Amino acid sequence: MDILKSASLKSYNTFGIDASAKLFAIVTSLAEIQELYAHFKNENKLPLGGGSNILLTQNFDGLVTKLNLNGKEIVKETEDHVWLKVGAGEAWHDFVIWCVENNWSGVENMSLIPGSVGAAPMQNIGAYGAELKDVFKSLEAWLPEDNSVEVFDNKTCDFGYRSSIFKKQLKGKAIILNVTFKLSKKQNLNTSYGSIEEELALMKISNPTIKNVSDAVIRIRQSKLPNPAEIGNAGSFFKNPVVPTETVVQLLKKYPNAPNYNVGEGLVKVPAGWLIETVGWKGKVFDDRFGVHKKQALVLVNYQNTKGQEIFDLSENIIEDITEKFGITLEREVNII
Ligand code: EPU
Repeated sequence: MDILKSASLKSYNTFGIDASAKLFAIVTSLAEIQELYAHFKNENKLPLGGGSNILLTQNFDGLVTKLNLNGKEIVKETEDHVWLKVGAGEAWHDFVIWCVENNWSGVENMSLIPGSVGAAPMQNIGAYGAELKDVFKSLEAWLPEDNSVEVFDNKTCDFGYRSSIFKKQLKGKAIILNVTFKLSKKQNLNTSYGSIEEELALMKISNPTIKNVSDAVIRIRQSKLPNPAEIGNAGSFFKNPVVPTETVVQLLKKYPNAPNYNVGEGLVKVPAGWLIETVGWKGKVFDDRFGVHKKQALVLVNYQNTKGQEIFDLSENIIEDITEKFGITLEREVNII
């Protein structure tokens, strides 16, 4: 295992921010992680999956560990279901494609989400009416503090909207090693999310297969979301805020067409993308280098040579503006380092 000093992290974060790590290593097994963490006991640590949900606002004064724990295996199978154990370092989309090719259903709506399998439970990734927690069975994580490997199930992960125990009590305290999923061998599609049906109609498909749904999602994402390989970004920068019904009643008086989704218990989700677009930030470009994506206002982008702090400052300005104009405070989805 090589340990690099003053290593650039540019190719390890999808924002493409050129920050550096004092120390950097790529690991492929738990034994290597343990060795590394024991050796650099007193350094700050930053474990990295696909680097698709972080914003590096400064150089990292410590050890960055790129987790390349690979492997995919079937661990159990019945007539209706299959249980798959997948290494945390596998690319999420490659895992989805493997499932689609084998006709296992449950993750096709989450096609083309950037990032690694190990990072997926951290924030309970989701898209187009599907969420990781619906196909999640368990995971194994290493807890550096007591050098133990613990198993977490759906309940102990404490999943919420873009959240889990790993973003709360166990933030920075667990390294996910592998994830076990339970998928359906019966075609069990969920096309109820508006734009999927529209896209399938455009594709002239009336009896969709798992592959058709995956293709439709890929087409929708490619039409709206910037490809990190071309334009630096970390997907949705903000979460969609969940606010009391009363706030939305006021909002609708001024904007009768404001999209909103009742989530129960007197709470309503309002799309942050709509709020940001409505106050005029969508498509803004600053200094030819960074800005707000032109097709999806929820996504901040680095066109070239942007410092993480500049993206952070832009997000601060957006949050302040939305708070002032709507009385709604946006929260960041991306982890700020
Ligand atoms: N909208 C706008 N302007 C925009 C963007 C959205 O008015 O610039 C409106 C749309 O017209 C629609 C509503 O907001 O009425 C919802 O938009 P969309 O379906 O595009 O989804 P979203 O709520 O903006 C969420 C996820 C995405 C996920 C999509 C599709 C969050 C924070 N984001 O976005 O996830 O792909 O739904 O399911 O929940 C990600 O997490 O990185 C991500 C891309």
